[in-house]
Amino acid sequence: MIVTIDGPAGAGKSSAARQLAHRLGFEFLDTGAMYRAVTLAARAADIDARDEAALAQLLDGLRLEMPDDKVLLNGADVTLAIRDPDVTAATGQIADSPVVRRWLGARQREIAAGRDMVCEGRDQGTVVFPDAACKFFLVADPVERARRRQAELAAKGTTVSLEDLLAAQTRRDERDAARDLAPMRPAADALQLDSTQLTLTQVVERMEMEVHRCRTGASISSTKSSGSSAIPPSR
Ligand code: C5P
Repeated sequence: MIVTIDGPAGAGKSSAARQLAHRLGFEFLDTGAMYRAVTLAARAADIDARDEAALAQLLDGLRLEMPDDKVLLNGADVTLAIRDPDVTAATGQIADSPVVRRWLGARQREIAAGRDMVCEGRDQGTVVFPDAACKFFLVADPVERARRRQAELAAKGTTVSLEDLLAAQTRRDERDAARDLAPMRPAADALQLDSTQLTLTQVVERMEMEVHRCRTGASISSTKSSGSSAIPPSR
């Protein structure tokens, strides 16, 4: 069974996907990490993100593995390197590339084939797994998302202004939503959740309920009409 979680930067997708997968006994796929890893490889090879032929050649010889929450690029552990702010800023351009999207989409389907998996990203419910059994689109107020990110960075001893974080976040979201190929948007059959006023646990509980509903084949519209309070479901 495939569960997809898409949505903008900083809405809490990764944490929710990881916890939901744990509760369900599913595996978890962070597809953003895959785009970041390809970006790192392209930067190391000094490839222009618009050079489709060079990117195709790069991907031809690329080994991308994701064992146990780690990201390995041709065998080297790049788990931390892909979180570098320069890589974060450059990933949007690489993610615009048709050749990269095709290659990563195929890898994601290969990895998930025959498995129970929570797949998190921007295009999982729309393009990569259009037939997923249960789909979510997780959003949160932009200022709240930037605040959460600021707190995360502060906990690691890094001070960044809210304005700078908000500006970078907005740039990423706008680019991800505007791309011609696989733009970030909710799938028509995704349940949209707003995490602004919710704890991570509340988000995950709500998702888990929904997955059980999807599993038993109950219609999601019954959630709507039940007037369930924690998160108003909207589509
Ligand atoms: O989720 P994360 O912030 O790590 O994603 C980094 C970037 O990778 C996104 O801003 C987006 O440009 C790209 N991405 C994508 N499609 C996905 C996952 C990530 O285009 N499924």
